[in-house]
Amino acid sequence: MFPIRRNRRLRQSDAIRRLVRETIISPNDFLVPLFIVEGKGIKEEIASMPNYYRYSLDLLKDEVKTLWSLGLKSVLLFVKVEDSLKDNKGTEALNPNGLMQRAIKTVKEVCPDMLVMTDVALDPFSVYGHDGIVENGKIANDATVEVLAEMSISHAEAGADFVAPSDMMDGRILGIREALDQSNLIDVGIMSYSAKYASAFYGPFRDALDSAPVDIQNIPKDKKTYQMDVANREEAIRETEMDINEGADIVMVKPGLCYLDIVRDIKNSFDVPIAVYQVSGEYAMLKAAAEKGWLDHDSVMLEQVTSIKRAGADIIASYFAKDVVKLLKY
Ligand code: PBG
Repeated sequence: MFPIRRNRRLRQSDAIRRLVRETIISPNDFLVPLFIVEGKGIKEEIASMPNYYRYSLDLLKDEVKTLWSLGLKSVLLFVKVEDSLKDNKGTEALNPNGLMQRAIKTVKEVCPDMLVMTDVALDPFSVYGHDGIVENGKIANDATVEVLAEMSISHAEAGADFVAPSDMMDGRILGIREALDQSNLIDVGIMSYSAKYASAFYGPFRDALDSAPVDIQNIPKDKKTYQMDVANREEAIRETEMDINEGADIVMVKPGLCYLDIVRDIKNSFDVPIAVYQVSGEYAMLKAAAEKGWLDHDSVMLEQVTSIKRAGADIIASYFAKDVVKLLKY
C-alpha cells in the first residue's frame, strides 16, 4: 500500500539536506556592478536602489577593498558622466583620461588581482541616452560598432581584463575582437550581453547613470530596435550562437528572473560560460517589498540567486552580491 520510495527521507534534517543539495552559492559566483561618479568624498545612494551607491574614485578604493575581503574578486564598472561631456558619438568614452579609464586604474592600484570588466555601450556618454550613434532617427549599427571597438581598446589599455559590450549592435563582437587583436590585446576577454532583452526592469539603472533615452521628436524613445523582444526565445539562441562564433568568451542573459527559461536553453545548447544579470529593477522590487514588510528580504534574495544558478548561470552579476556573501554559512 505504502510507497517504497519516500522522498521526504532526504529532507528530514539540515544535515541530509546539505548532503544532497545540488546548487551551492559561493563568492566565486558573483560579478559586482559598481557605479562611479566624478568628484571627491562621494558615496551617494541611488534613490530607486536602496543601499546601493555611486562612488567617487577615492571612496571606490575602500569599496573595492571591502569586496576583496569578502571574497568577491570580480567587478563590472559603469560610469555616470556629466551632461557637458555627452554628445552623439561617444567622444568622452574614448578619452584616455576619462572617468572609466581612471576607474579601471584605481581598482587595479588598490587590488591588482581584482578582475575588472567594463561596460561597453554609448548610453552613459550619449546626449540621447542611446547605446549607439543616432542618425536620421535610427541607431546607426556599423558606425556604432567602430566606436565600441575603439572604446574597448581604450578600456583594455587602461587595464581592463574583460570588456562587456551591452549595446546589442550586430557584429560588434567580431569588430571588438579584431580591434583588440590588431592592437595586440589578445588576452583581453569579451563578455557579451548576447541575449539582452528590451526590458522595463532597467529603470533604476538608468536613474543611477542618468542614461534614459530622451523624449525628443525624431529620436527613438526606447531601445526596441536593438534590444530583444521580450516575447522571443529562439532568437536568443541565434543571438548567442552568433556572438560565440564572433569570439565571445562569456555570454550573458539579461535580465535574470523572468528569463531563466532562456538561461537553461542556452546552457543546454552551448558550452561557454553563461553570465546572468540580475538587474536593477529586480533589486528594487525586492527592496520595496521588504521595506513594506511583505517579503523576507534575505530568504527571498538567497532563493533568487540560487534559482539563477540552478537554471544554469555560471556567473551572476548582482547588486545583492555583498549581502549574499555576508549571509553564506558553509
Ligand atoms: C547599458 C546598460 C544597461 C544595463 C546594463 N548596461 C541599461 C540599458 O540597456 O538601458 C542595465 C543594468 C540594470 O538594469 O541593472 N547599455
